[in-house]
Amino acid sequence: MRLDRVTSTQDIARDKIVKGADPGLLIVAKTQTDGRGRYGNKWHSLDGGLYLTAVFRLKKRVCLLPILAGVAVAEAIEYFAGIESELKWPNDVLIGGRKVGGVMAESAWSGGEPEFVLLGIGVNLNNPPPENIPDTTSLCLELGRTIDIEGFLNNLIERLDYNLQLLDADPEELIRSWRRLSLTLGKEVDVEDESGEFVRGLAIDIDQDGALVLMTESGQKRVISGSLRSRYS
Ligand code: BTN
Repeated sequence: MRLDRVTSTQDIARDKIVKGADPGLLIVAKTQTDGRGRYGNKWHSLDGGLYLTAVFRLKKRVCLLPILAGVAVAEAIEYFAGIESELKWPNDVLIGGRKVGGVMAESAWSGGEPEFVLLGIGVNLNNPPPENIPDTTSLCLELGRTIDIEGFLNNLIERLDYNLQLLDADPEELIRSWRRLSLTLGKEVDVEDESGEFVRGLAIDIDQDGALVLMTESGQKRVISGSLRSRYS
């Protein structure tokens, strides 16, 4: 479903699914007035960017959806624009160390099982990246030309579909793709986990749930979700 101006594609998708829309729903908007990122951050959503939410009703491997989506965005950038990008755990897509896109997953649970997952993806294409946020970029800035938004979207949808099949058939292959694209592995990092605690260590891997595995002074630790801080370049 293509829309012009929405509050957030996440809100529109949630509303539609609660009212009985089919799974497989895809909401794409030209602009968002209330776009958001993880941890309640604002996601600047001017005209020219790509803003979408895809709805999934998966029972298994839900934790890998952000990993799957990050890989799909990086692959679409490579196939469509011919530029290499990198992934910063858990959800940032960067070009030359500057953020070009982000992924978030919001899920609704019922009886201990995920009822649906709203996978939100934002990519700076022709929109100016936010001036007040350092180290951001757009595909247009990187390439020096305007991007065909529809072409990029189609490419991204193909990559998402393909990676969704992999999630079922060969999730390890998805994890291998993430490892190849990772900017995080092999770095000394500080990670703020969901409870606000900082874990410091060497990022050595992600596991089958997409959790970051760190080698810390007190041994190996896994962080299921969080954000990377300092000591990171
Ligand atoms: C992040 O990097 O923190 C995640 C950003 C996710 C932004 C997308 S844009 C489409 C969808 N709708 C929103 O309000 N947010 C996500």
